[in-house]
Amino acid sequence: MRTVTTLYDLRAVRAEFPALGQEVHGRRLAYLDSAATTQRPRAVIDAVARMMGEDNANVHRGVHALSQRATDAYDQARSTVARFVNAARDEEVVFAKGCTEAVNLVAHSWGRANLRPGEAVLLSAMEHHANIVPWQMVAEATGAQVEPIPVTDEPTLDLDWLEIRLRQGGVKMVGVKHVCNATGTVNPVGEMARLAHQHGALILVDGAQALAHEPVDVQALGADFYAMSAHKVYGPMGAGALYGRHDLLKAMPPWQGGGDMIRTVSFEGSTFGGLPNKFEPGTPNVPGVVGFAAALDWLVATGLQAVREHEEGLRRQATQRLEAVHGLRIVGTAPGKAGVLSFVMEQAHPHDVGTILDLHGVAVRTGHHCCMPLMDRLGVPATTRASLAAYSGEDDIDQLVEGLEHVARVFA
Ligand code: ALA
Repeated sequence: MRTVTTLYDLRAVRAEFPALGQEVHGRRLAYLDSAATTQRPRAVIDAVARMMGEDNANVHRGVHALSQRATDAYDQARSTVARFVNAARDEEVVFAKGCTEAVNLVAHSWGRANLRPGEAVLLSAMEHHANIVPWQMVAEATGAQVEPIPVTDEPTLDLDWLEIRLRQGGVKMVGVKHVCNATGTVNPVGEMARLAHQHGALILVDGAQALAHEPVDVQALGADFYAMSAHKVYGPMGAGALYGRHDLLKAMPPWQGGGDMIRTVSFEGSTFGGLPNKFEPGTPNVPGVVGFAAALDWLVATGLQAVREHEEGLRRQATQRLEAVHGLRIVGTAPGKAGVLSFVMEQAHPHDVGTILDLHGVAVRTGHHCCMPLMDRLGVPATTRASLAAYSGEDDIDQLVEGLEHVARVFA
């Protein structure tokens, strides 16, 4: 196995991921779809299995030993997430199903309580649908308006436009993804937070694609809200979190009601618990949350910086190799990029490309990547996307290029 790095032992890292050891259509699996979801290391699978098999009990509801154990593991997971993103306090982390629910929480709680007719929410034109649709729903209910922050062809965000628009006034919220899932662009969220705050607006960062690949320090970035999905960072699906600044979360009303989020309930009315309980009604996804924490621990133990450098080296090398494939054009040429390689091929539709690659054992995503406004802006209906993670190597890129050369021949 060739690697582009001696930063860590790639063979040993791969051996920790059971899914990677299999064959697909008689070929070794080259898993290049980590932006859609990463694979899970044994440490995460074991943590989830232990939670379900040995420590299984409801949290915050029992005095018995198992319930205490489950509660401790759940609370401990919150501390792990808070530490990972450098939140000032554990209760600034609210567990959610993932980024989508985290954004919905901000939109439906903060948005409905704070947006007035005519006020604006600015969203980057490269946002994922999960950071557009909830705001459109809330705009409809409040009379506020959603405006796109334009992007260049690369695509990068037009910060001059942002500054001019903020200066015009009436902007209450800026929403941006830290890393673009469709093109890999790393957005200047720290700079955007500074601009937003200068003009009295807040910033919500969708961190889905960043958490596994970029340094995330919510205080240094100046993020008011930061949304996370566990499954994009080697953890389970259906788990994630919202970081929210304490004063903001404290002032926000609950958006979903149920058990565990209340102080008192009567038919005359209910009062609500403190942070973070008021935003976590019902029995939570304890195995998911525990798996999320195990994933972050795994990433820290493997070496965040080493993983980043490995992915960056591989991305640069893969970019050069893809550019040499006949009829292939890379979509996404921003100077600052994380491990995403999106491209289109002359004559071959991305779905055909993806199907042929699958026959070569290569897993990629094809389509609009839940970014239809960005695809419209870039003038492509869809792309093929190869995305990297800690376990990706040169052999995956070899297999990808071999498959693409086959595509080029078939569609010549
Ligand atoms: N948002 C995920 C992706 O980019 C599903 O593939």
